[in-house]
Amino acid sequence: MTGRAFIPLIPLLNTRVASSRAYATGNEPHTPPTGHVADKLGRPLRDLRISVTDRCNFRCTYCMPKEVFDSGYRFLRHADLLSFEEIARLARIFVSHGVEKIRLTGGEPLLRKDLHKLIAMLASVKTRDGTDVDIALTTNGSVLARKAQQLAEAGLKRITVSLDGLDDAIFRRMNDVDFPVRDVLNGIDVAAAAGLAPIKINMVVKRGVNEHEVVAMARHFRGTGHIVRFIEYMDVGTSNRWRMDEVVPSAEIVQLLAHHFDLDPVEPNYSGEVAERWRHRDGSGEIGVISSVSHAFCRACTRARLSTEGKLYLCLFAGLGHDLRTLLRGSELQPAATDSQLEAAIGHIWRARDDRYSELRGPLTAPMPKVEMSYIGG
Ligand code: GTP
Ligand code: 5AD
Ligand code: SF4
Ligand code: SF4
Repeated sequence: MTGRAFIPLIPLLNTRVASSRAYATGNEPHTPPTGHVADKLGRPLRDLRISVTDRCNFRCTYCMPKEVFDSGYRFLRHADLLSFEEIARLARIFVSHGVEKIRLTGGEPLLRKDLHKLIAMLASVKTRDGTDVDIALTTNGSVLARKAQQLAEAGLKRITVSLDGLDDAIFRRMNDVDFPVRDVLNGIDVAAAAGLAPIKINMVVKRGVNEHEVVAMARHFRGTGHIVRFIEYMDVGTSNRWRMDEVVPSAEIVQLLAHHFDLDPVEPNYSGEVAERWRHRDGSGEIGVISSVSHAFCRACTRARLSTEGKLYLCLFAGLGHDLRTLLRGSELQPAATDSQLEAAIGHIWRARDDRYSELRGPLTAPMPKVEMSYIGG
């Protein structure tokens, strides 16, 4: 126990969602972390996704449509971002609660200056049993060729590259900033040569826009060791004006691929893996489908998300984030929290979690405010 008076935090107004509330106060009863904390549905805390910037140099129509993310859009100020020291401190505390995997996301994480320094700091964090934390990064690949070597040297082990098609015209239309596909393909090659292979390639499939690229993508990466995963277009945030009829269900994608390749299903790599895996029968590689809409995987969801400004979200579709930054930095109402107060707050927040948006998706969830993917990370 801290012995301090109960002073609820005054949340910062978050204009990205309808409301934001922090119910961790830094005064939660403290029992030291055991490396295992379960939420209300019995799900442990295993993955932490950290968004390091809310900015991106792409304007993918399904994520940061130009008409919303234009020159008038207010991105976070630098002073609002968690510093690398603050991120690393929180990461250590999350690891003490059982986190084994940390994924850096954005926006586009490689736009954050000196990201390799953060990777080096995270690479030195050990789990309770002394093993390394699995550090991964999701990127749009646009500056990967320039940065891959430095990232690998800092201790990054794996990357996921978003790539929504091979056809240059379709790719340019989807990123909506006229970015050429060959630069991303080059980034993938440079990253593989730097030791980051095998690389996962994520393709969001939107009906009527890039579904015709599915077979070409599977064919292109077959035999390279890289793994293409086809993702159902999701109703994340509100900017993309998502419509169900723009979703191409994974079952349809698998059916389409089965016309062109001999595929066998493969068991998941680990319990709770979001992708369903398929392998080319001739051993030439693997593909995956992620059925976030047609087949919810909330039951095994062990993911927590830390926003760029230090809010903890318990679900990709949450409207409310828990303001850890005020705990970290203190305020006029209370001093900065100690590590044990942060441990207690995070444990308390996770134990109270009952989010399972994708399972409930529909009329029940429609009016809820939601954060944008660019703010919270994929
Ligand atoms: P690995 O660590 O390589 O196993 O990564 P992963 O399989 O968790 O995949 P990744 O982080 O690349 O996520 C791929 C995509 O799946 C994301 O871009 C989202 O579209 C979707 N996704 C990931 N996590 C969640 C989640 O918790 N909920 C929902 N609804 N979708 C998710
Ligand atoms: N639906 C599905 N995936 C999305 N991403 C971003 N927006 C969406 C969406 N609406 C994912 C993409 C991208 C990652 C950063 O986030 O996979 O690769
Ligand atoms: Fe940027 Fe990735 Fe969003 Fe595209 S999906 S706008 S690359 S953050
Ligand atoms: Fe996890 Fe929320 Fe996605 Fe369900 S919808 S898998 S609870 S992040």
